Amino acid sequence: MGERIGHLLLIILVFIQVWFSTAQNNDFTAMRALKDAWDNTPPSWEGSSDPCSDWEGIRCTNGRVTTIKLASMNLKGRLTGDIAQLTELQILDLSYNKDLTGSLTSAIENLKKLTDLILVDCGFNGPLPNSLGNLDSLIQMSLNSNAFTGPIPPSIGNIEKLYWLDLADNRLSGGIPVSNGGTPGLDMLLNAGHFHFGKNMLTGNIPERLFRSNMSLIHILFEDNQLIGPIPSTLGLVKTLEVVRLDRNFLTGSVPPSINDLIRVTDMFLSNNRLTGPMPNLSGLIVLNYLDLSNNTFDPSSVPSWFSTLESLTTLNMYSTNLEGQLPASLFRIPQLQNVDLRNNALNGTLNIGTAPSNQLQQVNLQNNQITDFTQRSQDSIEIILLGNPICTETRVDNNFCSLPRNTTPYSTLPNNCGTKFCTPPRVLSPNCRCSFPYTGNLNFRAPSFSDIGNSTIYDSLSDSLISSFQIFQLPVESISLSNPHKVFNEYLVIKLQIFPIEVKGFNRTGISGLAFSFSSQAYKPPPAFGPYVFSGENYDFSLAELGHKSSSGVVIGAAVGSCVLVVLLILAGIYAFRQKGRAERAYQESSPFALWDVNNGSGAVPQLNGAKAFSFGELSKYTNNFSESNNIGTGGYGMVYKGILLNGQIIAIKRAKLGSTQGGLEFKTEIELLSRVHHKNLVSLVGFCFDQGEQMLVYEYIVNGTVKDSLSGRSGIRLDWMRRLRIALGAAKGLQYLHDLADPPIIHRDVKTNNILLDERLVAKVADFGVSKSLGDANRTHVTTQVKGTMGYMDPEYYMTQQLTEKSDVYSFGVVLLELITARNPIEKGKYIVKKVKQAMDKSKELYNLHDVLDPIIGLTTQLKGLERFVDLSLRCVEETGDHRPTMSDVVKEIEGIMELNGFNPNAESAANSAEDFTTRGSDHLYTNDSLFAYSGDHFPTKLDSK
Ligand SMILES: *[C@@H]1O[C@H](CO)[C@@H](O)[C@H](O)[C@H]1NC(C)=O
Ligand SMILES: *[C@@H]1O[C@H](CO)[C@@H](O)[C@H](O)[C@H]1NC(C)=O
Ligand SMILES: *[C@@H]1O[C@H](CO)[C@@H](O)[C@H](O)[C@H]1NC(C)=O
Repeated sequence: MGERIGHLLLIILVFIQVWFSTAQNNDFTAMRALKDAWDNTPPSWEGSSDPCSDWEGIRCTNGRVTTIKLASMNLKGRLTGDIAQLTELQILDLSYNKDLTGSLTSAIENLKKLTDLILVDCGFNGPLPNSLGNLDSLIQMSLNSNAFTGPIPPSIGNIEKLYWLDLADNRLSGGIPVSNGGTPGLDMLLNAGHFHFGKNMLTGNIPERLFRSNMSLIHILFEDNQLIGPIPSTLGLVKTLEVVRLDRNFLTGSVPPSINDLIRVTDMFLSNNRLTGPMPNLSGLIVLNYLDLSNNTFDPSSVPSWFSTLESLTTLNMYSTNLEGQLPASLFRIPQLQNVDLRNNALNGTLNIGTAPSNQLQQVNLQNNQITDFTQRSQDSIEIILLGNPICTETRVDNNFCSLPRNTTPYSTLPNNCGTKFCTPPRVLSPNCRCSFPYTGNLNFRAPSFSDIGNSTIYDSLSDSLISSFQIFQLPVESISLSNPHKVFNEYLVIKLQIFPIEVKGFNRTGISGLAFSFSSQAYKPPPAFGPYVFSGENYDFSLAELGHKSSSGVVIGAAVGSCVLVVLLILAGIYAFRQKGRAERAYQESSPFALWDVNNGSGAVPQLNGAKAFSFGELSKYTNNFSESNNIGTGGYGMVYKGILLNGQIIAIKRAKLGSTQGGLEFKTEIELLSRVHHKNLVSLVGFCFDQGEQMLVYEYIVNGTVKDSLSGRSGIRLDWMRRLRIALGAAKGLQYLHDLADPPIIHRDVKTNNILLDERLVAKVADFGVSKSLGDANRTHVTTQVKGTMGYMDPEYYMTQQLTEKSDVYSFGVVLLELITARNPIEKGKYIVKKVKQAMDKSKELYNLHDVLDPIIGLTTQLKGLERFVDLSLRCVEETGDHRPTMSDVVKEIEGIMELNGFNPNAESAANSAEDFTTRGSDHLYTNDSLFAYSGDHFPTKLDSK
């Protein structure tokens, strides 16, 4: 009996093996067939016949091809049906290969494991095969910027997991398919966040049936098509929407009142249609930034009241909309208002922009109205244009405000001071003054929420986010340069991007396809204000980069010239070698953290560092422009904080102790030793230090999105909904738990507050500034006696009274942070303490403990605040009077995790999705599934992690 089973097993094993190696052979054959079908495949494909050995751009698992990433490889040819053999394929990215042409093979339906089909900006044409609907695992389908024709296949509606559907910028025609009896349609895509169909030739109505209340759409981009009929009233059912672009179609009828229900919309474009009827009531769009209703024939209407009540508006474009009457001065007090375009209306009376207009106001264009007077004229920085109004047709034509709009010079990354250095083309000077071969392309932002495209602040945030993403993705980028931001006809903001390689000789193919993939897969996320984007990459000339490298040796020339010249060359070579040697020595010194340690200064043996680097004073001054004022990003009791950029492009924050607040060498050493040992994804990590020329500086990683306090106060422009706040609470709690329970020796933070919790580019919370922290030293001691430090409002009263510091003091401060998270109020406001305020307002018998008036109004705009009561209970337990009654940080972590589960998702999967370390180990795949930066609610996505 046992023997028979044994035989059976053996047979099965052999069978599996045969089957397996056949499948594997199929993969090899298919890959070789694709190689033959394409020109310019990577040279590494010539060496071995096994694509899984070391073919660039190909990744395998168990001998089967699972990933093909060949974006921006200059491939030429067709995507043949051979691809259908790769039945284990999960990711296919062939973007930015403009010479890949032909139609999309219908055999592609065999790729049942494919999650990402990314063919952005290639030369594909012909109709989309209906078989696309059989790609059951697909999450991202990006077929934008090709020349596809024909209709959108209704079968796409069958791809239940589809989250990202981008068909924009093709020549698609026909209607938008919706389900009907047995026929599938796009209304079935309940997990989809993105319908990007702009720049096509779609016709017909936008079907009423397309929108349902249980959809999760965030962006609908239908601009620049030939859609007709009315805007369906069902649009108002999709409460998750943030960007709505229906402009540049032939839509008719009146705007349905239900549009006023879209309370999360930040960008609304209905311009350039044939809309009629009354001026829409948009008073409900309370977070609206960008509104464009221009060029429609609404009924003549006086200025609607929502002109002055939409507090988040940056941009109001309503030219040619039949507006009449007088503009209220209150419009110009909207705090973030930047541009107003009300040309070609019948506005009349006196223009009054009030005494305190928004300080971001750039331009008010009122050309061709009936305005007869203008009272406020002292605001030189604001450009007012009244040409074509009665006020300009009389005697005052010479006034500024009667001239045409000024042209402004576009933004460009400021070159650092590179002296007279220049590069021979095709090399380009990088912002760090090096000549190399950049990868270049255009970022096209399809719906930015700002219009002041001359303000450099916004581009600084963009370039920071690019640099830090490339770092996280471990891409070999030295620096980047942004230039020439401009709006094109359909209001896309286009910015030229140059990415400079770390290696002077240029990027290799792995580097380029990695960079290209970070854009094509939407793994890179710009700051929220930039909204949805698409990148178009230019060809990268690998041969040029290789050539440029070789020709620098100059050997050939040397042999051809006379001996006299040779002598000169030899001397020059000698000098060169000598300088190189000096450079090498200096480089060695700089890379050794011990070389600079000042042993004579009584600071003991060289510090035992864990990955932290010693910087010289000279280096840090170079990285910070000599500690210039423009690099200063903060000031504290201890000194100043500066922002700097390392040669490898990493952005750093440098805490420079001011004279008089430096500590002894020994203490400083102890501190950096301690800090360099602390590594956790919810703690800001130490990059290095400087102990040189009497200075003491700590160098930290720079965290892009600033402090939680900034976000709560609305300063950073990042909106925090309930889920985001829970995630932040959990992250910060885990950071503190690590300090208390896992750091050795344990560390008490002593200054936990919302100002010391930072948010990275993916809104992961990172606890900062445990520099003043006190190590508990001897693990047997449970408290240390020390001088009281901390911040009013967060301080543990028990510690204040007894000066006995324990971990429970941090727990108290954290309780205050939790209350701040739900109320967005300062701990002490108008003399009232937040803890007291919450306790007074609280009534446990009522819904949400009756805290409606105390809660931050933004938190619950849309979501149900599930578990809020538990959250409040937890906060109040943390601020119990005596430490013994407070929970430990690990209790706090568990409780927050429980609340998150109540809200329907797994905090562990969540933290994995948010963790940078996980990202790097997973390769740069699928970041877009964690869409948290521009998705208001990051919790509904069909991420792989969720589905596990
Ligand atoms: C606009 O809609 C709001 C409700 O969202 C309503 O309170 C207000 O009266 C409406 N305004 C007009 C002018 O209809
Ligand atoms: C402005 O236009 C409105 C509506 O057309 C009209 O009622 C009003 O009298 C005009 N005001 C002036 C000062 O011309
Ligand atoms: C530039 O933008 C920043 C942030 O968006 C803002 O604080 C600042 O006031 C703007 N500057 C001008 C001149 O508008």
